[in-house]
Amino acid sequence: MSDHRTSDHRALVLDETRKYHLEVQNDGGFVPGVTEIWPSGAVLDAEDRVALVEAALDLRIAAGDRSRRFEARFARLLKRRKAHLTNSGSSANLLALTSLTSHVLGDRRLKPGDEVITVAAGFPTTVNPIVQNGLVPVFVDVELGTYNTTADRVAAAIGPRTRAIMIAHALGNPFEVAEVAQLAREHDLFLVEDNCDAVGSTYDGRLTGTFGDLTTVSFYPAHHLTMGEGGCVLTSDLKLARVVESLRDWGRDCWCEPGKNNTCFKRFDYQMGKLPHGYDHKYIFSHVGYNLKATDLQAALGLTQLDKLDDFCAARRRNWRRLREALDGVPHLLLPEATPRSDPSWFGFVITVDPGAPFSRAALVDFLEGRKIGTRRLFAGNLTRQPAYVDRPHRVVGELTNSDIVTEQTFWVGVYPGLTDEMIDYVAASVKEFVRRNG
Ligand SMILES: Cc1ncc(COP(=O)(O)O)c(C=O)c1O
Repeated sequence: MSDHRTSDHRALVLDETRKYHLEVQNDGGFVPGVTEIWPSGAVLDAEDRVALVEAALDLRIAAGDRSRRFEARFARLLKRRKAHLTNSGSSANLLALTSLTSHVLGDRRLKPGDEVITVAAGFPTTVNPIVQNGLVPVFVDVELGTYNTTADRVAAAIGPRTRAIMIAHALGNPFEVAEVAQLAREHDLFLVEDNCDAVGSTYDGRLTGTFGDLTTVSFYPAHHLTMGEGGCVLTSDLKLARVVESLRDWGRDCWCEPGKNNTCFKRFDYQMGKLPHGYDHKYIFSHVGYNLKATDLQAALGLTQLDKLDDFCAARRRNWRRLREALDGVPHLLLPEATPRSDPSWFGFVITVDPGAPFSRAALVDFLEGRKIGTRRLFAGNLTRQPAYVDRPHRVVGELTNSDIVTEQTFWVGVYPGLTDEMIDYVAASVKEFVRRNG
């Protein structure tokens, strides 16, 4: 019997998959006002489709070789020693922050009531792990234009109970991460970079996600790489890496891969907690953990997506630049700006309608949506105004004036690699037409 990997049937299925991909490619062309211009989306080619089918043929339904290969490649790419795949970016955030509460960190561990500095305007799951761990979020405002906070604001927020900083690079635009990392070092704080929207961005010529103690990534289809659902926690701190892995994998103390045993050579020789000596290490739990693993089907897609990352990031930069140049000088709109010393791998193109403009954000958004130009909010806006957070213990440092403006006046449109020059030009022409008619 032939090996299933080389069987003729297998080759045939993969060949037919390529043909099928060509058959279902949307080649309807771009029709202004009819074709949807999505704000974000996955860009999947024949090799992505083949990789998924191949993983399915192998029945790789749990985490295995492909997951490990992806983790190794992604860690190398982001210049971190360890990467741990998760089932979402939100899970990655939960694991990253929760790992800082581990007993393994001794006196440095975060304890209930400790404070974590974060940003008021952003995505909820950058902040949720703070609340979920009984810690107190300390909210600072953002700048308009970059939609990031500043190192000065973070510095002003540091108090006696501050133990960590957890901030996202806003829509691909790096925050002043070198300065914030410096502050963290000076004040003995942990820094978690939520890099979910910013893979490939640089600050001071260095990749975002390489400054903090821990960094997180999302592989949801809107993001720079996709696995459908998925995420990753990266760190170069091997102690933290083990905690992340333990928390991800039910809280277990053992680090053997599924199907492997006794890699520590003392599987039946541990004495931990109040368990009898020799209790199987595979079933010793040293953290109150979760199961947030991803599968090899997801990793298979991640691996083929990874081959295209440079092209994806280049396309995002190109689309953003084209839109930025086309809209330059349009009155009543605040256009986005890269943080000084950064080169963002943009997630979206953010527009704020001047509060004094003769038209509203809602009217402009309606006009664009009417032309099938998809828009999104800067996620939750000012989180402290969201129903989930109003009654949660938190501290606010300074005014959240800009976060409020973001809540009322800001939206974004897409720059993802699936958009063509024609589409970008149509978005720019539509914005200009609206402002000309209403300005
Ligand atoms: C900054 C940021 N962090 C975290 C997430 C959560 O990622 P996921 O959707 O994979 O849970 C998102 C989602 O878009 C995000 O924008």
